[in-house]
Amino acid sequence: MSKQEVILCEDLESSLKRAIDNCPHDRLFILTDDHTHHLCLSQLAGLSVLKDAVEITIGAEDVHKTLETLASVWQVLSEKGATRHSLLINLGGGMVTDLGGFAAATFKRGIAYINIPTTLLAMVDASVGGKTGINFNGLKNEIGAFAPAASVLIETEFLRTLDAHNFFSGYAEMLKHGLISNTSHWAELLAFDTEKMDYGYLKKLVGHSVQVKEDIVKQDPFEHGIRKALNLGHTVGHAFESLALAENRPVLHGYAVAWGIVCELYLSHLKAGFPKDKMRQTILFIKDNYGAFPFDCKQYDRLYKFMQHDKKNNAGVINFTLLKEIGDISINQTTDKDTIFEMFDFYRECMGM
Ligand SMILES: NC(=O)c1ccc[n+]([C@@H]2O[C@H](COP(=O)([O-])OP(=O)(O)OC[C@H]3O[C@@H](n4cnc5c(N)ncnc54)[C@H](O)[C@@H]3O)[C@@H](O)[C@H]2O)c1
Ligand SMILES: [Zn+2]
Repeated sequence: MSKQEVILCEDLESSLKRAIDNCPHDRLFILTDDHTHHLCLSQLAGLSVLKDAVEITIGAEDVHKTLETLASVWQVLSEKGATRHSLLINLGGGMVTDLGGFAAATFKRGIAYINIPTTLLAMVDASVGGKTGINFNGLKNEIGAFAPAASVLIETEFLRTLDAHNFFSGYAEMLKHGLISNTSHWAELLAFDTEKMDYGYLKKLVGHSVQVKEDIVKQDPFEHGIRKALNLGHTVGHAFESLALAENRPVLHGYAVAWGIVCELYLSHLKAGFPKDKMRQTILFIKDNYGAFPFDCKQYDRLYKFMQHDKKNNAGVINFTLLKEIGDISINQTTDKDTIFEMFDFYRECMGM
């Protein structure tokens, strides 16, 4: 996978101009969803580099991350004369960067694209690392391709209009990056005052966070080994997400990951000796900011089955990424069913259920 340039912008216009100049093209397209068209593209109005760009707008949220929406993007590209040498800019959250990235990866066997993520989750996670795709047949990210953006331009000023739920959803991935990297990054994340948002400082944190993801993706772009570190919190988190969906009480991905981190830190403590004080501090932060996902012991079996059927697990073997310490990662860890049920007991007890 070719290298992807990730830039924490000081001045979006000049970074964008440079990124576009690095991708010689005949036609320029810019993809947004209904919300980012209104909230984010409007902030770029008047930029001379975008004056000839053809705008493509799709419905917002994951319900639109579909084959139909993808086809509508291909349709506009085709009708407006896009060629192999055209360039697509994706301006939006992870839904837009995933779907737009896949549209670019497949149109005429692949055209260049630039991501400008506008949610916290997309800045630190979705827009970086080359995974693109759509949901299909009721399954998340069932169809997709590895196809890195030519550039990812991060402008944290876009976060000013993001609601608190989506902010915390992205922040959970940042917490994960703190846990898999180093104690000082983890500590600065726990100390950040999310009530009195200092956007200047947030930008610094976002810069650190995206660096963690980039470093890991660089070492293992196709997820054969160390990239699995990024799954911390996700083995249990995906099961929470699936249960929540099945019970018609959907939760944002990052919330499920935060609750998954609670469980997987406990497992890390039990099986790998992760220090109790750091586990407690992280759990306290999660409890304070994310509340709890309630379930009772009658649902343990169902959660266990969701974990067995997760696409990241093979033949019913449930794989965890565990930590011996902050930044000391053990991938491909397994455990028995009793221990997993004990982990659910721990979660319910410490989250006050
Ligand atoms: N490719 C990857 O490696 C990867 C990693 C993690 C997640 N993802 C994918 O990312 C998607 C989730 O991303 P997301 O959380 O960004 O969701 P999203 O793109 O659906 O955005 C969430 C909501 O915020 C709105 N929004 C976007 N920017 C805004 C802004 N600046 N101000 C106000 N509202 C804004 C969107 O219109 C949407 O309504 C999922 O489809 C997931 O599968 C991909
Ligand atoms: Zn995630």
